[in-house]
Amino acid sequence: MSEGGRLELRHPGGSTPIWVGAGALGNALEALGASLARRRVFAVTSPPVRALHGAALDAVAATAGAFRILEVADGESAKSVETVVTLWRRLLDEGGKRDSLIVAFGGGSIGDVAGFVAATFLRGVDYLQVPTTLLAQVDASIGGKTAINLPRAKNCVGAFHHPVATIAETTFLETLGPRQIRCGLFEVVKTAAMLDSDLFAMLETELEELLGGGAEVLAPVVEATAAAKIAVVERDPTEGNDRRLLNFGHTLGHALESAAVDVHGHKTLEHGEAVGYGMLFALELARPRGLGMKEAERIRELVVRIGLPPLPGGLDPADLIDRIARDKKAREGSIAWVMPMKIGDGLVVENVTGEEVSSTIDRFLAGA
Ligand SMILES: NC(=O)c1ccc[n+]([C@@H]2O[C@H](COP(=O)([O-])OP(=O)(O)OC[C@H]3O[C@@H](n4cnc5c(N)ncnc54)[C@H](O)[C@@H]3O)[C@@H](O)[C@H]2O)c1
Ligand SMILES: [Zn+2]
Repeated sequence: MSEGGRLELRHPGGSTPIWVGAGALGNALEALGASLARRRVFAVTSPPVRALHGAALDAVAATAGAFRILEVADGESAKSVETVVTLWRRLLDEGGKRDSLIVAFGGGSIGDVAGFVAATFLRGVDYLQVPTTLLAQVDASIGGKTAINLPRAKNCVGAFHHPVATIAETTFLETLGPRQIRCGLFEVVKTAAMLDSDLFAMLETELEELLGGGAEVLAPVVEATAAAKIAVVERDPTEGNDRRLLNFGHTLGHALESAAVDVHGHKTLEHGEAVGYGMLFALELARPRGLGMKEAERIRELVVRIGLPPLPGGLDPADLIDRIARDKKAREGSIAWVMPMKIGDGLVVENVTGEEVSSTIDRFLAGA
């Protein structure tokens, strides 16, 4: 097994080491061990993640002064006010103190809710991100954004609170299903298309192996994607500027994700898949603004090779536009569209008119 790599994210409050690779957990615990020994450690996880990888927490427990596991609901439903209140109460009841440490052990949902609890309990306690999905390893666990949802308002309440370390142990990824791998890879393509042309070329060459999901083959991609995100977060910690490039594909993506439901109200597009379509759509806006045909085609081809499910029939362009306008990323006045100008070089465009969006959506849905 290859040794895990170690990256570093410098932010206004200090710096966060990020261990990546097969063996990252062991390496990180070796480095962090002394700082855990006298502390109460609370691992937040969900039953399925615990069933799959809970044994890895034994090593954390062995290092900590005291150790508890706090289970929350699985998936997006963990990001609720109710979960936060339950966790605050459990922490208090179980002797949580200013120097306690929370470990977020799971996908991005667990990272977001456990991070938010860490940001707020006793005005802020330390936490570790231990992401177990590809999406969380390449994106959600890096950069200090934490959030929960209100009904119909995703990520509506949150805080910036950086973890004391992120541990992206890539062997956890071996139990992900193919759809989860694909969803993570769409976010990798997003980052590469905006920030890193070498990473983009690596994806083009190795996509088939990456879709297979092995820890060894994914590790360099996780590391390169994390490094690209780190660089942009260091330049723009609070997302006033360049960090918005990471929203490539997300403007239409969020609208599609919430609109695409079956007759039972179940989502038919995963987040990453909606972002895949959102990236294809942004290419249409980018072409008349200077994105070359060859580069647009390379991005389109990579997204298509990862594999998109068909769009559900009956999507209403006016409804999608309405959802875009309601998205919190729509600032007063104008909506920011993120698009590539070249591979590895993105741009935030604020002057796309409503008419242009509307006619492009019509064409896009007709051609999809
Ligand atoms: N804070 C940020 O900067 C940021 C960035 C991107 C996304 N996010 C958030 O991340 C969340 C999505 O994260 P996600 O895609 O990881 O989904 P998730 O956390 O909801 O997990 C999805 C599923 O994966 C399962 N799972 C977790 N690890 C597994 C493993 N190793 N093997 C098999 N199954 C496993 C979980 O049990 C769960 O059912 C969203 O809520 C999104 O808003 C946050
Ligand atoms: Zn995303």
